[in-house]
Amino acid sequence: MSAAPPRLSVRDLSVDFVGDESVGGAVRAVDAVSFDVGAGEIVGVAGESGSGKSTLAQAILRTLPPPGVVRGGQVLLDGVDLLGLGAASLRAVRWKKLSWVMQSALDALNPVLTVRAQLDDVLARAEGPSSSSPAARDARAMALMADVGLPPERLDSHPHQLSGGMRQRVAIALALALEPALLVLDEPTTALDVVVERDLLRQLLSLQRARGFSVLFIGHDLGRIAQLADRIVVLYAGRVAEIAPGRAFRARARHPYARQLLAAMPGVGVEAATLRSIPGAPPSLRAPPAGCRFHPRCARASDACVTTAPPLVSLSGGLALSCHHPHDVHGR
Ligand SMILES: Nc1ncnc2c1ncn2[C@@H]1O[C@H](COP(=O)(O)OP(=O)(O)O)[C@@H](O)[C@H]1O
Ligand SMILES: [Mg+2]
Repeated sequence: MSAAPPRLSVRDLSVDFVGDESVGGAVRAVDAVSFDVGAGEIVGVAGESGSGKSTLAQAILRTLPPPGVVRGGQVLLDGVDLLGLGAASLRAVRWKKLSWVMQSALDALNPVLTVRAQLDDVLARAEGPSSSSPAARDARAMALMADVGLPPERLDSHPHQLSGGMRQRVAIALALALEPALLVLDEPTTALDVVVERDLLRQLLSLQRARGFSVLFIGHDLGRIAQLADRIVVLYAGRVAEIAPGRAFRARARHPYARQLLAAMPGVGVEAATLRSIPGAPPSLRAPPAGCRFHPRCARASDACVTTAPPLVSLSGGLALSCHHPHDVHGR
């Protein structure tokens, strides 16, 4: 294990959605979540819909809309807590170190500008007053198009002239234009068809390997995320269930939720794997079950699970597990 400090360190992060009593009061969507993303590391966050993934991403990026409120914790990017930054310092960090692509690329693109104009705008603003020539920026825009697998002619397209996959590629090119130290991707390929998705992910991985930026990759498909991430964080109802190496996770997951999820999914490369194929549904966060939040769906649950929430126990190598009765690494 390297002794290098993590690029991103999320510590005890909790987020509520505040509502008045008529809607049942506050909902804790992210509950004391901690994990690290090392320099050059790809960390995947996986969990069913509603488990708090997007809320977590938005809290980290400081883009959480009301009524979401960060209740506690730290988000350290290279040791600086983003949660404590004023608007100007936050803007500086965003231009220098942090970029993201969310599920809908349409939100990230300006409908009235060509791809060329949008890339040029980002490149010029990222450079600040020491701006390079328009010709140099244009060359850089061409290179970014090649990086994300788009033909250079597409520089002159408007967003509505592009397919969903192309728009998502443009969004990624815009995010990469900033040469981020950390790229956060929240279900960036969910809206795409399988072939396009696979192609785009492959391209993203090869860019990541070449450039060495860190990636926080969020999605609902545990099997797929485990394949591409160095480490995987499994969320259940706003809490961390397990943090484990992505490689061999399919065989070595220890939390019963992760095991059930993986067992319920068809093999690698088979589509339409939905996480709803395990019995029951995730709990409402307005009234989560006592004890371990997974106990009503868990085949291994004991009395302790009904009454006592298992603490997240740190294991060596940045791994962690929150379960009274975990499987061993052989699945027993
Ligand atoms: N705008 C909102 N107002 C109230 N509650 C919300 C809002 N957005 C999300 N939540 C709550 O937070 C939970 C997690 O949502 P989200 O982070 O979007 O999950 P995911 O991205 O994993 O599907 C939801 O189940 C819901 O209870
Ligand atoms: Mg989401």
